[in-house]
Amino acid sequence: MLKSGGHIDRDTEVITVQNVSKSFGDLHVLRGVDLHLFKGENLVVLGRSGTGKSVLIKLISGLLKPDLGTIEVLGEHVDELSEKELQQLRLKIGFSFQNSALYDSMTVRENLEFPLVRNKRHLSRGEINHEVEDVLDAVGLLHTINQMPSELSGGQRKRIGIARTLILRPEIMLYDEPTAGLDPITCIEINGLINEVQEKYKTSSIIITHDLACAKSVGDRIVMLLDGKFEREGEFDQIFDTDDERVKPFYDYNFIT
Ligand SMILES: Nc1ncnc2c1ncn2[C@@H]1O[C@H](COP(=O)(O)OP(=O)(O)OP(=O)(O)O)[C@@H](O)[C@H]1O
Ligand SMILES: [Mg+2]
Repeated sequence: MLKSGGHIDRDTEVITVQNVSKSFGDLHVLRGVDLHLFKGENLVVLGRSGTGKSVLIKLISGLLKPDLGTIEVLGEHVDELSEKELQQLRLKIGFSFQNSALYDSMTVRENLEFPLVRNKRHLSRGEINHEVEDVLDAVGLLHTINQMPSELSGGQRKRIGIARTLILRPEIMLYDEPTAGLDPITCIEINGLINEVQEKYKTSSIIITHDLACAKSVGDRIVMLLDGKFEREGEFDQIFDTDDERVKPFYDYNFIT
């Protein structure tokens, strides 16, 4: 069962990665990766620690260059863009990084205003207030608007981080381990939020995770990085319908079979 089948436009690819390889010295991390993200889709990327999931995100956002292969994002060839063009493209991408932190000395409101004021200078005070309140409401934390990050729980800080990303109205969201370090109930909340973001803001997303409950809850489609390539692809049950010893432990550990 697709989570959001109605929203996915399978005729439009927002990210196309073709035959991408990336090594660091003798370490061959990605060895011919293909990945297609369709408009409106939530695509989950699974893989063991160190398999190159974060490297893939850095390649897609142009922070790293591939050794081989091509990467297109929203119709642009990332590896051919100037630094200025890359910055423009990155404004259309929302990053929820593994360790993305809020500014501790700023209130929630100030944290959210910061990217807006920096990137959309033409907005009036009233428009800024409206945008801040809209995204805070979307993540269910309007009441924290005047609080400091230190007064929030880990799950709340994660939500504010996602709101800060949404405020620039990205077309694509890249979530790197959105539920890492959170308790199960907070994980469920974050998974719900990822689905709500997809619904409300019509985003297309890549969600990197080790958390199979997250994968199952948010993934319209799942791909699994094994030995530098996406060897398995499909819906949740298809991915784990295998005796492959590189795949089974993920399932067995998460679901304690
Ligand atoms: N800039 C870099 N220079 C050298 N090696 C790097 C660099 N970036 C990543 N690596 C190496 O590439 C490999 C893949 O790293 P990556 O961060 O993508 O793993 P990951 O799949 O995201 O793991 P995790 O699940 O632990 O976050 C690792 O061995 C890492 O040390
Ligand atoms: Mg990583």
